[in-house]
Amino acid sequence: MWAFPIIFGMATFALLTVGPVSATEQRQFDYMINCQGCHLADGSGNASRQVPSFPGQLEKFLSVSGGREYLAQVPGSALSGLSDERLAGVLNWMLEEFSTTALPTDFKPFTGGEIHPWRDQVPIDVGKIREELLERIVQKEKQYPIGALTHEELN
Ligand code: HEC
Repeated sequence: MWAFPIIFGMATFALLTVGPVSATEQRQFDYMINCQGCHLADGSGNASRQVPSFPGQLEKFLSVSGGREYLAQVPGSALSGLSDERLAGVLNWMLEEFSTTALPTDFKPFTGGEIHPWRDQVPIDVGKIREELLERIVQKEKQYPIGALTHEELN
């Protein structure tokens, strides 16, 4: 079994040095190690494996009730081996990195203390919760176009 640590070490080294994104900070590193395998470096996911695409979508969950909790409770987040603080950091990094529209003006970054109780009560039927949230997003966008302003327009 001597080969495993060596191969794993080489793969990690390769990931950090020649990957499409090189980690410049802990939050991004945590994303690369824990999330990128399914969600990909650019957050585009994999439709054929039901892994959703983040860009332009992730931030919309913040605009409907229950959406903020959902982002921390979805199994990929809640069941990751990351501490509450590190998971909060990854979620904040993802929102900064992948949002294509402005975050809600009252957005406050996730904190470890905030998400701790949510991780203890992960909903059983995540797919159903996701569908309900997406429906709420559609309804909300009919009333008010979420993301009428882009990052570029804000800057
Ligand atoms: C094994 C594959 C896999 C890994 C690894 C993974 N996810 Fe996911 N993720 C999914 C799938 C599939 C969904 C769709 C909801 C579901 O079925 O769980 C999802 C959905 C999400 C969502 C909600 C987005 C939406 O549109 O519903 C967030 C937020 C998320 N993941 C965060 C993370 C974070 C943070 C990590 C790393 C700590 C991570 N995921 C790791 C597969 C994965």
